[in-house]
Amino acid sequence: MEQNLNEELLDKLTKVCICKAIPRSKIKEAIRNGADTLEKVQKSTGAGSGGCNGKRCSPKILELICQMNPIE
Ligand code: FES
Repeated sequence: MEQNLNEELLDKLTKVCICKAIPRSKIKEAIRNGADTLEKVQKSTGAGSGGCNGKRCSPKILELICQMNPIE
């Protein structure tokens, strides 16, 4: 329980897309809602449209997609 709260808090505080100040919680929410590709996550959150054109956040988004969609 406490672990989940800490994780939720960290997800809110950690910015995945620094250019657009988009927190990890928003990226995870998009993935939970079915965004299973980088493009879909970018489209629904606005991540990747900042000054670096997604250079910094794309690898982190891909990692989250992989973590949350394990291949069975
Ligand atoms: S960090 Fe996401 S567009 Fe730059």
